[in-house]
Amino acid sequence: MASWRTSTSIASLLGLLSFLLLHCSTTSTAIRVSTIIRNPSPMKLPIFREAPAFRNGDSCGSEEAYRIHIAMTLDANYLRGTMAAVLSMLQHSTCPENLSFHFLCAHSDSELVSSIKSTFPYLNFTIYRFDSNRVRGKISKSIRQALDQPLNYARIYLADILPADVKRVIYLDSDLVVVDDVGKLWGVDMEDNVLAAPEYCHANFTLYFNDAFWSDPVLSKTFQGRNPCYFNTGVMVVDVEKWRRGGYTKKVEQWMAFQKQKRIYHLGSLPPFLLVLAGNIKAVNHRWNQHGLGGDNFEGKCRNLHPGPISLLHWSGKGKPWLRLDSRKPCVVDHLWAPYDLYRSSRHFLED
Ligand SMILES: *[C@@H]1O[C@H](CO)[C@@H](O)[C@H](O)[C@H]1NC(C)=O
Ligand SMILES: *[C@@H]1O[C@H](CO)[C@@H](O)[C@H](O)[C@H]1NC(C)=O
Ligand SMILES: *[C@@H]1O[C@H](CO)[C@@H](O)[C@H](O)[C@H]1NC(C)=O
Repeated sequence: MASWRTSTSIASLLGLLSFLLLHCSTTSTAIRVSTIIRNPSPMKLPIFREAPAFRNGDSCGSEEAYRIHIAMTLDANYLRGTMAAVLSMLQHSTCPENLSFHFLCAHSDSELVSSIKSTFPYLNFTIYRFDSNRVRGKISKSIRQALDQPLNYARIYLADILPADVKRVIYLDSDLVVVDDVGKLWGVDMEDNVLAAPEYCHANFTLYFNDAFWSDPVLSKTFQGRNPCYFNTGVMVVDVEKWRRGGYTKKVEQWMAFQKQKRIYHLGSLPPFLLVLAGNIKAVNHRWNQHGLGGDNFEGKCRNLHPGPISLLHWSGKGKPWLRLDSRKPCVVDHLWAPYDLYRSSRHFLED
């Protein structure tokens, strides 16, 4: 855009400088500066309230030092969801100070960094730039454009991106809230598995792949010797070392490359995960992913909760609670998300 106001560019430069001081890696500063100035952030980020400082209780002790590592993507479009998810985890943790967040973002966007910093001044977090070139040319068009964003594929590269001292990580989508101590999910006994997640063996697994897949004599044997079940890739515990040692990134990428040659599924990053891991994961209690609350691909369709206790609510699907609340047409379940919303609307400004 031509109208690039001086005040904005000065603010951006100051933001950029602090970003570089805080987070600069070894790459050339000059390149980063020119990139950011030529591609100014196209949208104004929303303003959020500051979250309180959540402190460890005495029971957190110091006998066995460990941190709980949480990885999420960071994207201006989902920022409100990310903020709510982080708040929900801090609020329900027995040892909130032991949470370390690892945010993967597509651009080195200093505004996103300062937004997290000002909303959670006490948060232990690191930002990683996910280079979308890594998946360029590997993404096949799916049924929903939102699924085709390169950042959606970043979860495949967690083991490469995270520092070596991170042995286990919980990967979470940005459209969810955790209403239980996330430490319980962290503590899952993974036995020999590389991945743990709730799995759904009643879902019709056939539907995740097309006829070209099932009618091919070789391809259809992919799941031979396993009992493959659907799992949602928005909530996963990953043994990062096992993932690295087993070369799982390459395995998932190979299926993505295959899909480019011969279309065998319609969804985005889920099917290649299923191809590699379905039937070989540690099943976690369903309470850790009440998924589908966003409804399906039809606008305005609300979903109810599944029966049973709930530790995590997930608005997977097309509808997002913050959009439906703003449009004043919320689903009943959206009121469960609202208490974690840190968005400071103009109305709240006046009430303050
Ligand atoms: C939480 O972190 C602190 C500081 O790193 C550590 O001393 C303590 O042992 C941890 N608590 C638990 C329960 O791991
Ligand atoms: C933040 O977490 C890292 C590990 O991810 C740890 O080394 C560091 O000490 C933590 N910082 C604080 C202030 O707790
Ligand atoms: C699963 O879906 C396939 C394809 O639509 C269908 O042929 C099959 O009967 C279904 N299986 C079950 C158990 O419903």
